[in-house]
Amino acid sequence: MNVTPLALAAADTDLSDLDNFAAGPPWTAFGALRREAPCHWNPEPAPNHGFWSITRHADIVAVSRDEETFSSEVGAANLEELDADQLEVRKSMLETDGARHFALRRLLQRDLSARALAPYETFLRGLTATTLDAALADREFDFVAQVSADFPIRVLARLMGVPDEHAGQLISWGNRMVGNTDPDEADVLLGSPESEQYRNLPFRSPAALEVFAYGDELARQRRGKDGDDLVSKLVNRVPGDGVPLSERDFHNYFLLLVVAGNETTRHTITHTMKALIDHPESFALLKERPELLPRAVEEFLRWASPVYHFRRTATRDADVHGQQIRTGDKVVLWWASGNRDETVFDDPYRFDVQRDAREHMAFGKGGSHLCLGNQLARMEIRIMFEEILARVDSADALGGPARVRSNFIHGIKSFPVRMSGRAAAPRSR
Ligand code: HEM
Repeated sequence: MNVTPLALAAADTDLSDLDNFAAGPPWTAFGALRREAPCHWNPEPAPNHGFWSITRHADIVAVSRDEETFSSEVGAANLEELDADQLEVRKSMLETDGARHFALRRLLQRDLSARALAPYETFLRGLTATTLDAALADREFDFVAQVSADFPIRVLARLMGVPDEHAGQLISWGNRMVGNTDPDEADVLLGSPESEQYRNLPFRSPAALEVFAYGDELARQRRGKDGDDLVSKLVNRVPGDGVPLSERDFHNYFLLLVVAGNETTRHTITHTMKALIDHPESFALLKERPELLPRAVEEFLRWASPVYHFRRTATRDADVHGQQIRTGDKVVLWWASGNRDETVFDDPYRFDVQRDAREHMAFGKGGSHLCLGNQLARMEIRIMFEEILARVDSADALGGPARVRSNFIHGIKSFPVRMSGRAAAPRSR
């Protein structure tokens, strides 16, 4: 294979540098890495030590599957490097391997299955209708603030039995934590001297303390009672390994749900709205043939790739494409790159609502950490676009999307749009 100097330069793009994500995903760099350097060492500024980038779909699946060599537990889930104490106190199911991980996951797995969620469909549809009616009445609005940010967190609030009026607070906590590299979102920026005092908190964010306190209050109200919300289940069930959740386990589980169930779905909905505005023919097709939507949701997820990466840490030396990975090295799985792998998806940079995109890795792929909320997210996205397509006749962007400054979350902070359509007619489904 001929390696051009241009391709090599692209493959050397520093993926730890947030500037390289400012205008959107560094697709050229990902493409060059997949072609020329599928297991590539990315140096990082001190105090970090650098990481291996894995960018091909098949390799991401293989690394994700080999959990003995590539652990979720011996290092953090993203690029931050933690000492043993920090790892211990910040550990959620995402940073747990083996039997304990299985037991923690099983605690809520059935509650988040498609079958258990089906009864919420009417509630979700009603919520979508209210959200869209309010936005459409304004005609010109920020799609994030008025549509996509509100919806996933209200659904989660309902599942967790959190009062509706606290949804705004949950959104703000999520923004402050996940946006910890974005000056507009974070109150304490990751890596700033001030963040040192929060080093034992998830995302090094003081917002985590507020989330813990809020979770404690919900737990106090529900312990020993027979509520069927997720918080009641967390505090009253014992994991299958017989080891009850410690206070810390509960904190980190609760916080993981608040964060994971919020941002990712929101960004998928915003990216999809933008894609449908940029591709009016797809908008028209789905409006005419809404039965295509369940399959199109998989393309929405592939297209959006709202989580750029998760990380594993090598527990032993390993060879990937001739590169020597050493024990303790950080190994980064770039889901977003896997979602543009041309050996899996034909013409991967084309938004194609009729393609079979089920091989996408937006929720992870191959390993036991596959997103626990994937059925919930799919249902939310499907219902949101069923309702949008049923009532929006025209949609235009009034400006570009403002992106979250991050190489972890592919997020949109605001997206001004103009939409016209009908308010909800009562429908029987
Ligand atoms: C479009 C929306 C979503 C995307 C793209 C997404 C993506 C992901 C990814 C990439 C992972 C890690 C996979 C791995 O490391 O192998 C993950 C894990 C997880 N997600 Fe999601 N997620 C979404 C929505 C949700 C929702 C709605 C919830 C909550 C109800 C949720 C809860 C979780 C949890 C608890 C984990 C940890 C699973 C484990 O460690 O076993 N996610 N998600």
